[in-house]
Amino acid sequence: MNIKGKNFLKLLDFSPEEIGALIELAAELKAKKKAGEVYAPFAGKQIALIFEKTSTRTRCAFEVAAHDLGMQCTYLDPSASQIGKKESIADTARVLGRMYDGIEYRGFGQEIVETLAKYAGVPVWNGLTNEFHPTQILADFLTIKEHFGTLEGKKLVYCGDARYNMGNSLMVGCAKMGMAFTACAPEEYFPDAELIARCQAIAVETGAVLEFESDPIKAVSGADVIYTDVWVSMGEPDEVWDKRIADLTPYRVTMELMNAAGEGCVFLHCLPAFHDLGTTIGKQISEKYGIDCMEVTDEVFESSRSLVFDEAENRMHTIKAVMAATL
Ligand code: CP
Ligand code: NVA
Repeated sequence: MNIKGKNFLKLLDFSPEEIGALIELAAELKAKKKAGEVYAPFAGKQIALIFEKTSTRTRCAFEVAAHDLGMQCTYLDPSASQIGKKESIADTARVLGRMYDGIEYRGFGQEIVETLAKYAGVPVWNGLTNEFHPTQILADFLTIKEHFGTLEGKKLVYCGDARYNMGNSLMVGCAKMGMAFTACAPEEYFPDAELIARCQAIAVETGAVLEFESDPIKAVSGADVIYTDVWVSMGEPDEVWDKRIADLTPYRVTMELMNAAGEGCVFLHCLPAFHDLGTTIGKQISEKYGIDCMEVTDEVFESSRSLVFDEAENRMHTIKAVMAATL
């Protein structure tokens, strides 16, 4: 793999071999770290982390990975820069590109991170947009590989709003890696037709199978992984809650659904998750709608079939691989 100098904006831009090599590199870097081996070949490099939306995992993963690799970073929080309000993305890109060796961006439309990359002159990494969350997929796939030994032929079922960043990116990732992907949702929550067509074309090359199914029990038949995400994403208005809860409650990941998939099926979630009443929003929703969880039950989340904390840890190792490979 030689992707030095390349941006990491979406998985569509990478070949299956490159994605596989990034996952392999992440596994190697993880093994080094677990063995206590210091691997810091990027001393003197500086990176900027732009977050126009909040974050726990992605921010910490970039910061820890950067420090492990010997680099230093500057964090720009959702309110602490001129970006978008007083200075265009193209101008911001040209300024930061003069000072930094790489730039992470989390925010709104995919076109913003694409513009940033066009003008920065240094590698730009997508830390989540409305459309895609590519570093998350690398962590998900490393977790699946660690558990099953392979990605090929594994069936991943995504339950919930499959037309947003997670559903889109998982569909692209599965198509690239020759996996089976099922979007399990009401029809209006399926990924958009143009992206499905692009992924179907990739699937012809890789042997992947893409399915779209509104019956949850049918969808999970033979699943190796059931994946879900929040029903309302960052940046969406509060008014959508009523409809989302009504539409997506039948797609909540319950133990009954896990059992319908089969004994070996594991649970993944990009996190954060509404699985109990331990959050402010969780409590507000509970008071208003009388429910004690949303996209996944506490029983599934806390079960031995849930790999969510391995997955969260793997954010760091995979983001480290992306930076090490592109810088
Ligand atoms: N999964 C994920 O991106 O988490 P954060 O929003 O905490 O970064
Ligand atoms: N779909 C979620 C993913 C969070 C990691 C969001 O965009 O808020």
